[in-house]
Amino acid sequence: MSERPEWLDNAVFYEIYPQSFMDTDGDGIGNINGITQKLGYIKELGCTALWLNPCFCSPFMDAGYDVSDYCKVAPRYGTNDDLVRLFEEAHKLDMHVLLDLVPGHTSWEHPWFRESMKAERNEYTDRYVWTDSVWEEPTGYGSLRGISDRDGSCAVNFFTHQPALNYGFYKPERPWQQSMDSPGALSTREAIKDVMRFWLSRGCDGFRVDMAGSLVKNDEDGRGTIALWQDIRRFLDAEFPRAAMVSEWGEPDKSLLGGFHMDFLLHFGPSHYNDLFRCEAPYFGGHGDASAFVARYKESRERSGGKGLICIPSGNHDMDRLARHIKGDDRTLAFAFLLSVPGAPFIYYGDEIGMNYVEGLTSVEGGYGRTGSRSPMQWDDTANAGFSSAPADKLYIPIDPDADRPTVKAQLGDPHSLYSEVKRLISTRQAHKPLQSLGDIEFISDGKGCPLAYIRSLDGERILVFIDPTDGKNTMRFDGTPAEVLYHFGRDIEISDGCISSQGKTAVFVRL
Ligand code: NOJ
Repeated sequence: MSERPEWLDNAVFYEIYPQSFMDTDGDGIGNINGITQKLGYIKELGCTALWLNPCFCSPFMDAGYDVSDYCKVAPRYGTNDDLVRLFEEAHKLDMHVLLDLVPGHTSWEHPWFRESMKAERNEYTDRYVWTDSVWEEPTGYGSLRGISDRDGSCAVNFFTHQPALNYGFYKPERPWQQSMDSPGALSTREAIKDVMRFWLSRGCDGFRVDMAGSLVKNDEDGRGTIALWQDIRRFLDAEFPRAAMVSEWGEPDKSLLGGFHMDFLLHFGPSHYNDLFRCEAPYFGGHGDASAFVARYKESRERSGGKGLICIPSGNHDMDRLARHIKGDDRTLAFAFLLSVPGAPFIYYGDEIGMNYVEGLTSVEGGYGRTGSRSPMQWDDTANAGFSSAPADKLYIPIDPDADRPTVKAQLGDPHSLYSEVKRLISTRQAHKPLQSLGDIEFISDGKGCPLAYIRSLDGERILVFIDPTDGKNTMRFDGTPAEVLYHFGRDIEISDGCISSQGKTAVFVRL
């Protein structure tokens, strides 16, 4: 395995949905220069790295996850030079930038796909997964049919306008299913390496990889896809050994084996992530149960050899805003958890001020129910919350109409705001290695109707994290003697040798 980019060990990421962060040219849509302009804000919060959602040419039927040119910044966001300048300015602040790599599919407008649709064989014929007759569908994947002179149906990877790139089948079963080492599958792999090479050689620090587990088909246990990523890691080790790789896979035992440094905990599938933040009675709302999450988390950590690099995001562009289900001070308790677990935390833009999910919006660019989580950043109390000088009806997505919507400006000056607590939590994490990405975690209470508590440890240092979102009295025993309270939020607590008592609604980190 490669040289680790050591900055990951203490990274706190900030996810930016470029459309909605900051518009500096008044067209109603965010841009790269807007991100560069706000780097100081992100740095001041304490974040050390960015993840940008795709900012490349696209017909934007899935907000840019339908790429039509991997190597060109979409004109609405600026130019390749603007993006390179963002890398440079971030580096000057000792920050790092991950781009979003979408290797599983392209837009149906991508020139590769236009060529692949042709009846005559050409360089791109095998770039996508096609059957050999329009009457046969590639079962299990969905398909595009009746749109080309080519006789065949093309598998799709997500929406129907996103044809699946061909990395081969782990176990080919039909004549049209190519093996992983067929020339077509190998040339797709090389083409994606070229895309990575293009951006890494211009200063990008790595990638968040979209649907990383979806590449090889008929690959139930992920063996083919793991082998494919191992090959990509070998290429990175040879040419860009410091490239950081974070997967959207949700199975760290597989993704870390494939050479990813970190994997996201997903909000779908078996993770029980939603039990904590997004359900009728979320644990951090004060009335829920975290035990199924804890059991699953432990299992997943064990399966991945305790490497601990499972990233738990505050939210993202695909799910409800944290603030939709968790209100008031409970949000700080949720952040106390997010900022004290292993793996790098990811803060979704605006979550640090408690931005709300905007209800009732019409879908924008394939957002559907996700649109309400993608509204413009709320900077201040000027027009359009300081996001853009465009007329309000020209904004990409309307601003949250709530008269009491939170803003950066109001929260920066308030020592009791959510922003200030998130900042205090980040700086506590950054000052104590056991709280960072690589520290171990041992749960001593699983949050079954009671506080959640765990010991983070590294190189003999131990920190007790105790988070009590309940509204009642709780007492818990632990092994150790309290030496120093590193962080405390909420109601009073009492700590003595091996015993902590709370009145509910509190979070405390104690060095033992
Ligand atoms: C996951 C991305 O996060 C989501 O926004 C996108 O729609 C799908 N992958 C398809 O690329």
